[in-house]
Amino acid sequence: MIETTESSWTNIKRIGLFDSGFGGLSVLRSLVSRLDKPDEKQFVYIGDTLRCPYGDRPARQISSYVKQISGWLLQQKIDAIVVACNTSAAASGEELLSYSPVPVFDLLEHTASFVAARKLSRVGVMATNATAKRKAFSRAIRKVDANIEVFEIGCPLLVPIVEAGLTEAPEAQEALRPYIRELVSQGVDAIIYGCTHYPFLSSAIDNVVNELSRKTVQMLDPAECLASAISGKHDRTIIGADAYQSCRFATTGDAESFARIGSRCLRQNISPVESVALADLQAASVWSRTAEVLLQPPIQFSPEAVS
Ligand code: DGL
Repeated sequence: MIETTESSWTNIKRIGLFDSGFGGLSVLRSLVSRLDKPDEKQFVYIGDTLRCPYGDRPARQISSYVKQISGWLLQQKIDAIVVACNTSAAASGEELLSYSPVPVFDLLEHTASFVAARKLSRVGVMATNATAKRKAFSRAIRKVDANIEVFEIGCPLLVPIVEAGLTEAPEAQEALRPYIRELVSQGVDAIIYGCTHYPFLSSAIDNVVNELSRKTVQMLDPAECLASAISGKHDRTIIGADAYQSCRFATTGDAESFARIGSRCLRQNISPVESVALADLQAASVWSRTAEVLLQPPIQFSPEAVS
């Protein structure tokens, strides 16, 4: 959807990203890997770990969380929002676009353009139940090329594995097997990580794909599609030791465990992590601010004030 041009990205300095937990760190990583200097942009990242996962929640609830988080990010004086959570983009991306005063970026359209440009004909999408139910990737891809066959499935066991920091554990491969078997049986040429948590399972996914598929299956990371499209830089640069120095990290969950597992995801120390109370997020909700304005008593004009 949304703001897509390279020039709009160049002019944006301070970017807010959000996800239900650690997943959006994969999007941050892709964006940071396109910077020439670590301080070229500043990032504010918030993971709503306390309410993670979003993927089995109803759309109305997700949309109210998005209003709260985007309201909080706007209070941090950001110039743009990156929806680093496909479940949120699927449930309320259009709505966010309608009320956000700053440009909004998500992963869906750039992934669709990438798939069409690569001339892939059978594509699998692993996503959360909420994203798969809305067929978010299928609709975005078919908008670009109606002939591409898309098989989009919900993989609800995966986000809890990433959130628990178990990406390398045998449970990860066990959980992945049925999902990948289903997609491989459709003869897909490529599989999209349709949830931003899944790139952190990439080595387990590669193992299971190699085990189950007789042909080569390309893995597509939507975060890479977004980062290369908006930065105009195709390839990642090596992420240096100070790459995340201009990033602020916040969570609604436990700050220490967010720092520990988040550092493992990004292979760099991301502490300190700030704690954000749910009450503060709720108070920041874009909706409650709109409601506040609407509910304010009408201004009373007295003749003296007018003259
Ligand atoms: N990482 C998110 C996504 O891209 C959300 C996962 C979840 O909370 O279920 O969909």
